[in-house]
Amino acid sequence: MALDKLLILGAPGSGKGTQAKFIADQYGYKHISSGDILRKTASEDTEIGRQIAAIIKAGELVPDELINQMFLNSFKQLEGKKIICDGYPRKLSQAEFLAENNFVFDAVIYLNVSLEEVTDRISGRLTAKISGETYHIKHRPPKVEGVCDVSGEKLIIREDDKPETVKKRYSVYLKETEPLLEFYGSKGVVIEVDSEKSIDVVWKDIERVVFKKK
Ligand code: AP5
Repeated sequence: MALDKLLILGAPGSGKGTQAKFIADQYGYKHISSGDILRKTASEDTEIGRQIAAIIKAGELVPDELINQMFLNSFKQLEGKKIICDGYPRKLSQAEFLAENNFVFDAVIYLNVSLEEVTDRISGRLTAKISGETYHIKHRPPKVEGVCDVSGEKLIIREDDKPETVKKRYSVYLKETEPLLEFYGSKGVVIEVDSEKSIDVVWKDIERVVFKKK
């Protein structure tokens, strides 16, 4: 079975970005992170940038009309290449929009993890804006404290990683994103991975169940 178009799905902090990056680096996929793309737009001093920054900070979802066509266009431009989508689609209307435009995922990797675990992960997350690398103070510390191993830039804490925003993001996930499991489940493309385990073990499981590595 072709595995050219992958979607990685899971709660905030389930490890989507971490594992998508491994897939991109080790299997030659283009990693499309909606969060990274939207955070970049949010950092620009434009009307739309300010609008998106406020939505992200509040833990809400950016409206479909601002992003649906944009992501569909990027996917079309990458036609024929292997892509791993991380964060888009994340609600039923977005998944339906892609389906209506004949964009079909070959597999959807679902990272299943508890609220307790994601709370611990997000509270220790450190992010590198330029390189896109993600670290954790306990589970994946950088070699030098506060500095990205890859780019040497200073690591930051994301604006939406404050505990009250994380709770909001999690409730938005349950209401808006979890229904995608049924949507893609009915198409028989969901592959569930237990993401409660360590980063390395989750990666080994993905390699085994998705890429059939022995
Ligand atoms: P986005 O950036 O996509 O955030 P998210 O979905 O909430 O996911 P996170 O990035 O928080 O977590 P992750 O699952 O990638 O975990 P990570 O690998 O970093 O979106 C941000 C915002 O943008 C949204 O709230 C919304 O406003 C907007 N947006 C984006 N897409 C949108 C869309 N389609 N529609 C509308 N709005 C949209 O891991 C987390 C931490 O845990 C790290 O520190 C990592 O090192 C550590 N870790 C990872 N795996 C493990 C493990 N197995 N064990 C221990 N630690 C681990």
